[in-house]
Amino acid sequence: MPEERGAGQASSPWWQNKIAYQIYPKSFLDSNGDGIGDLPGILSKLDYLKDLGVDILWLSPVYPSPMVDQGYDISDYYGVDPCFGSMEDMDALIRELKRRGMRLVMDLVVSHCSDQHPWFQEAIRDPAGKYGQYFYLKPGRNGGPPNNWRAEFGGSCWDRLPGSDLYYFHTFAKEQPDLNWENPEIRRNICGMVNWWLDKGVSGFRLDAIINLKKDLTFRDGPADSPDGTCAVAKMLPQTPEIGAFLNQLKRECFLPHDAFTVGEVFSIAPGRMTEFGGPEGYFSTLFDFGHCVADRSGAYWYQYKPFDFQTWRDAIFQSQENAGNFVFLSNILENHDQPRSPSFFLPEGDDSYEGITALAALSVLLRGIPFLYQGQEIGMRNGSFRTAEDFEDLSTRDQYRAALSAGRTEAEAMAVCRRRSRDNARTPMQWTGGKHAGFTSGTPWFPVNPNYRKLNVEADAVSKRSVRGWYKRLLALRKDPKWEDVLVRGGFRPAFREEPEIFAYWRTGESSGRRVLVLCHYGRGTASVPFAEPFRVLLNNCDHLECREGCLRLRTYQIVVLACGAGEEEAL
Ligand code: GLC
Ligand code: CA
Repeated sequence: MPEERGAGQASSPWWQNKIAYQIYPKSFLDSNGDGIGDLPGILSKLDYLKDLGVDILWLSPVYPSPMVDQGYDISDYYGVDPCFGSMEDMDALIRELKRRGMRLVMDLVVSHCSDQHPWFQEAIRDPAGKYGQYFYLKPGRNGGPPNNWRAEFGGSCWDRLPGSDLYYFHTFAKEQPDLNWENPEIRRNICGMVNWWLDKGVSGFRLDAIINLKKDLTFRDGPADSPDGTCAVAKMLPQTPEIGAFLNQLKRECFLPHDAFTVGEVFSIAPGRMTEFGGPEGYFSTLFDFGHCVADRSGAYWYQYKPFDFQTWRDAIFQSQENAGNFVFLSNILENHDQPRSPSFFLPEGDDSYEGITALAALSVLLRGIPFLYQGQEIGMRNGSFRTAEDFEDLSTRDQYRAALSAGRTEAEAMAVCRRRSRDNARTPMQWTGGKHAGFTSGTPWFPVNPNYRKLNVEADAVSKRSVRGWYKRLLALRKDPKWEDVLVRGGFRPAFREEPEIFAYWRTGESSGRRVLVLCHYGRGTASVPFAEPFRVLLNNCDHLECREGCLRLRTYQIVVLACGAGEEEAL
C-alpha cells in the first residue's frame, strides 16, 4: 500500500505512523438491547473513533465461543458469535472502516482453542485418531497429572480427557486445550484460516499468548513456586526450545504476502532477542511493551506484588525503550482488557486529576512505537467498583482471590489486591452518556456499569473545559502531524532528567533533521524546578501556563509540556 507510506519514506511500513485502538466488543456498545455489546454497536461509532484520530481498530475475539474466557476460547475460527452479530456485520465493518481510511486488526488466538471446538470433540471421541494429534495428550504419573505445571488461571495444566486415561494440556483454563503446533497439519490449518481473514480484508492480527506455541516436549517438572508444589507454566517458557520455525511459517505464508500488521502479546523477551521478534526482520511488526505493567511483580501471585512505585515504573519504560532501540518498534499501552484502568493504577490514590490523566496519556503516546488506546481510556475511565468476591466475573481474578486466602491473607486484604488488579476493571461497559446504563444498552448490561458513569461519560467529557478526550485528540494529531513525523514517529528516544525523583522526561530526536522534542512532566504534587536554558516552543501543555524563571522551568502538580527545542524554535513566554 505505497500510497499510505510516510511522505518520501518509501522504506517505512504503512502502519508505522498509525494510532491503534482496542475494542472489547462485549462492553463497547449494545445495539439490540440484549445487554451485550456487538458489531452494529461498533459500526455506529466509527465516526467517533475516526474523529479521535484512530487508524487501526483491534477487536478482541468475536468468534463463536462458549465465553469461558470471554471469547479467548474459540469454537469456530471462521465465524462470528451470534451475540456479536453476523458475518454480514463483519463485512460491513471492514467495508466501513476502509471507507474512512481505517483498518481492522483481529485477535488471533491459536495457542489454544475451546474444548467445544470440533477438533477437541473429535479428540475426545477418538484419542488415538487424527484429532488426538491436534492436542497434547499424555498418560498420567502416579495416579496424577504428567507434571507439576500450574495453569495461568490456577490448577494443574493437565486435565483428564473425558472417557480416557489420558491427560490433555492447557496453559490457561481447562476449557482452553492447547493446540499441538508440532503437528504440521495444525500449522497448515491455522495458516489457511489466517489467510482467509486477510483475504477478506482484515489488515493484521494481535497475536494472543504467542510465545506459548512451543512447548518443552520433555514436560519435566519445574521448580515449585507455590505452597502446593506446583510451578507456574510461564516459568517453563524461557527453557523452551526454538519457537522460530512456527513463527516464521506464519510470517512467510500469511503476514508477508499480505503486508499485514502484527503485534505480539509477548512478555519478558530477553533484551538480546528483541530484534529476532520485532525488528524489520523479526517475526512480528511490533511487540507490546508490558514491562512497566509488571514492574511491581515480586512473586507468582498478585498478593505478592509490591505497591506502585513511580521510579520503578518510569525506569521500566525507559528500559524497554532502550532495549528496543532504533530497530524494534514497540506497541505502547497504558491499558488493555487484561490490565486495570491506568488512572487508578499508575497514579497514586487521589492524583487521578485531569492533569494526572493527561500527563499519563502524553507520556505513553509520545514514546517511540505505536500508541494503542483501550476503549474508555480516552475519557479517563477508572477501575470498577467491586464489593465482594462474587462481583468478579473474570476467572483469573477468582483464582487470585482464592490464592490470597489460602496464603493466609484476610478477605479484606484479598479483596484489596483484586480490586487493584482485576481484569474486570477494564471490562465494565463503556460510558457513553449520563443516562440509564451509561447509554451502553437499553436492556440489562451483561456486567454492571461503573457507578461513576453519571459524571464520567463521553457526553459530559465533550462539554467539559477539561476534556480528556479533547487532550487525546490534540495529542494524537501531534503524533500524526507529518511535520513532526521524522521526530515523533521515526525519531530516536533518550531519557532526560533521570536523576530527578519526580520528573518523567524524554527526548525524541529526528535522525536526519536533528530536530528535537522534549516531553517533560512533573509526576508528583507541588512545584518542581527543572534547570533548562534552551530556546523552545510549546507544542502541548496540560496547564494554562508554563512558568520559566532564572533558567528554570517550574512545573506544577502533574503538569506535562511538549517542547520543540533548539535554535529557531524559541517563542516569547
Ligand atoms: C491473553 C489474553 C487474555 C486471555 C489469555 C488466554 O493473555 O489477552 O485475555 O485470557 O490470553 O487466551
Ligand atoms: Ca447486543
